[in-house]
Amino acid sequence: MAQVHTAAAKPANPPLIARRWTAADIPDLSGKTAVVTGANSGLGLRTAEALAAKGAHVLMACRNEIKAAAALESVAAGATGPKPEVLPLDLADLASVRRAADHLDVRDVPIDLLVNNAGVMALPRSARTAEGFDAQFGTNHLGHYALTGLLLPALLRAPAPRVVTVSSIAAWGGVINWLDPNWRVVYLRWLAYSQSKLANLLFTAELDRRARAHGTPLIAVAAHPGLSATNLYESTPEQGWTARISALQQRALVALAQSDRMGALPQLYAATVPGLAGNSYVGPALETLGYPRRTLRNPLAYSRAQARALWRMSEKLTGIAYEWPA
Ligand SMILES: NC(=O)c1ccc[n+]([C@@H]2O[C@H](COP(=O)([O-])OP(=O)(O)OC[C@H]3O[C@@H](n4cnc5c(N)ncnc54)[C@H](OP(=O)(O)O)[C@@H]3O)[C@@H](O)[C@H]2O)c1
Repeated sequence: MAQVHTAAAKPANPPLIARRWTAADIPDLSGKTAVVTGANSGLGLRTAEALAAKGAHVLMACRNEIKAAAALESVAAGATGPKPEVLPLDLADLASVRRAADHLDVRDVPIDLLVNNAGVMALPRSARTAEGFDAQFGTNHLGHYALTGLLLPALLRAPAPRVVTVSSIAAWGGVINWLDPNWRVVYLRWLAYSQSKLANLLFTAELDRRARAHGTPLIAVAAHPGLSATNLYESTPEQGWTARISALQQRALVALAQSDRMGALPQLYAATVPGLAGNSYVGPALETLGYPRRTLRNPLAYSRAQARALWRMSEKLTGIAYEWPA
């Protein structure tokens, strides 16, 4: 996992040219605790399996108890360290996010790694979080903003904490809808998804900057899986022709996709390669598929002003301000 940055050990960037980095290259994670959101399915499940196989104590943060129980069995089957556990978490409900964080706080364990992986895509307009946020912005960004902030004390108990947030190629098409981030006036489902995934990158950049500014060893990095065959492409329960077109688009995307195991490699790389530089962005070599390497991002994701403004907006909407050490 991440190493404390010292003058002698300069943080490394991931390579520009991909070599065949696989889950077998993950270093030994004995003694480390990792929280993975959305760990019952797709990339989150593959991430949890790979981390547990290398000895990490994996906490699978999931919203659906039944799906989580089935996934737990598969993660436990390959675990070489402590038994994995399920942590109930619904990112679309801030009360649930608080309960999950409180549960971990009581146990007083350090969290070495947080993988903000859970996500929803292109849901219908009616999909809203408990607080009334757009489901995509609320789950993919605001829920993870809140969770990370509430877990900050536990992360800072670890010697070299790392936060990995899973973005998407869709972030290239993203802009933050500053006037209406929760899409109350006009709703464009794919733009809403792209906004949430750009927000993942802006969040990573600002978290990494703030962690450094406060003199902590925490680093924040991002990854994207290219196109990976998962349940994400089945999440548009809506009627009518727009839904049918959307379903066709999604089927076409799945046909081009790589496996969920391959798709999980960039986030596993971002989570475990020692000495990775803060705010690195890792994706598949050919963007939609391939082995992990450093990758490019939407230029808007480099804007400090936007990152700061998004942070302030997230603070206001969630009511959660990060408590950094003095
Ligand atoms: N697959 C791709 O090609 C692709 C491409 C780009 C980016 N991504 C990103 O990869 C990440 C993982 O997605 P995936 O492809 O693995 O899809 P997936 O198989 O649908 O997994 C998504 C996970 O997120 C969980 N989740 C959704 N809403 C949640 C909530 N409110 N609270 C807690 N958990 C919640 C889901 O739980 P349930 O099972 O209960 O629904 C599921 O475990 C997402 O952030 C997605 O945007 C995927």
